[in-house]
Amino acid sequence: MGAPHRRSRTPGSTGAWIAVCHFCLGGDRLVGFARAISDGAANAYISTVAVLPEYQKRGIGRKLIQRLLEGRDHLQFVLHANDSAYPFYLHLDMGFEPFDNILVRPRKF
Ligand SMILES: CC(C)(COP(=O)(O)OP(=O)(O)OC[C@H]1O[C@@H](n2cnc3c(N)ncnc32)[C@H](O)[C@@H]1OP(=O)(O)O)[C@@H](O)C(=O)NCCC(=O)NCCS
Repeated sequence: MGAPHRRSRTPGSTGAWIAVCHFCLGGDRLVGFARAISDGAANAYISTVAVLPEYQKRGIGRKLIQRLLEGRDHLQFVLHANDSAYPFYLHLDMGFEPFDNILVRPRKF
């Protein structure tokens, strides 16, 4: 199995970054994707984590999250998991904890 690729981009000179981590197999077929957005100083938000159903349960999701977190212990990572993925993040043993005081403004359309 290959290693996930991490690419970071820094918009402007604020230190903020967007990291896109993707996992390809057999050439250029995208089988896994994860993204984080950060102010580069204190906080990061993980969004859009997905592995193709036929490639799930092979360790790809774990590697993608690992790549997003590595070298970034100075940041607090936040994510909103759906019901089926919630236990996945707890199971990873990478420091994700339930946190109650999260507020969400849902999209309107
Ligand atoms: C959630 C998701 C990204 C996990 O990806 P994956 O590649 O199947 O996960 P991995 O194979 O790396 O699993 C890592 C570990 O978590 C466990 N695990 C995987 N999915 C799990 C789940 N839904 N609940 C609990 N544990 C889970 C695995 O058994 C594995 O355990 P191990 O390391 O002890 O063997 C994938 O199921 C997915 O894309 N789901 C649909 C989209 C989605 O819900 N995305 C999340 C939005 S927040």
